[in-house]
Amino acid sequence: MASLFRKLILISSISNLTIFDASNMEWWSVLENVVSATPLLAIKSESRVSTGIKGLDEMIEGGFPRGSMIVLAGSPGSGKTIASAQYLYHGASNFGEKGAYISFVERESVFLRNMERLGLNFERLKNEGSFKFLDMITPGTEAFSMDAMNFALKEVQSMKAQRLVIDSFTAISSVFEKKAEARIILHLLERLMLEFGCTTLLVVEVPTGHKDLGFGFEEFVADGIIMFETVDEKEGIRKRAVVRKMRGTNHSQNYCNIVVSNQGLSLVPYVT
Ligand SMILES: Nc1ncnc2c1ncn2[C@@H]1O[C@H](COP(=O)(O)OP(=O)(O)OP(=O)(O)O)[C@@H](O)[C@H]1O
Ligand SMILES: [Mg+2]
Repeated sequence: MASLFRKLILISSISNLTIFDASNMEWWSVLENVVSATPLLAIKSESRVSTGIKGLDEMIEGGFPRGSMIVLAGSPGSGKTIASAQYLYHGASNFGEKGAYISFVERESVFLRNMERLGLNFERLKNEGSFKFLDMITPGTEAFSMDAMNFALKEVQSMKAQRLVIDSFTAISSVFEKKAEARIILHLLERLMLEFGCTTLLVVEVPTGHKDLGFGFEEFVADGIIMFETVDEKEGIRKRAVVRKMRGTNHSQNYCNIVVSNQGLSLVPYVT
């Protein structure tokens, strides 16, 4: 458990959480201490964060609950990165809300080029200081991953980002040997982002044709879950989305189409 304590202390040190001697404690009591040591400055509020994903706000009573952590889970090529990018772009362009994209899967140059094709000029936002892309390409070791996360979260804190995307939790969690460790880290992350007043979109990769998310606990820790799927049909592949969960929200229970064009990604209700 020694390495877990190191991680906890590393992450706790990012915010103003009390650092304490964890060497004689069980992991669950460490978590309890970290959480109770955090001043309750922030609570998930009633106000909504407009998502910038056309069609989604209408499905979730206007947007994500401010300060929440939302899992965007989906299969390869289903549109997770585009949707996440639109979320940040919308916040920075239309609401003056700074955004950060922590990427463990895509390099900045590729991201900027692909988004430019969709009319999203992230270079401009970067120059204005309202967007940061944190390139954390695929960590090989646990130590590297935690250092990378530590660095990235400090950046998020110092720029006072109100919107955060982590692409992906799958890439981070694969370095943990034990499920319990990954779960604690996710709880801490959720707690930290709430402290920072940041609404977080956590991307989770789901292999094509599968329904289960990562370790399984992500579904319970997250405040909301949006599933993006690619479905094989006679005519070809169809992309579809559903809101599986959104705490405190009377959300749509229906599948809708995911439509991607040069104008970006939108969610379109099925025509019956
Ligand atoms: N300009 C475009 N016009 C139409 N469709 C596009 C366009 N650009 C991208 N797409 C579609 O979006 C998909 C890529 O979206 P995105 O990168 O957001 O997927 P992803 O879920 O993040 O994938 P991965 O799991 O590989 O990271 C492409 O496979 C393609 O189907
Ligand atoms: Mg992606």
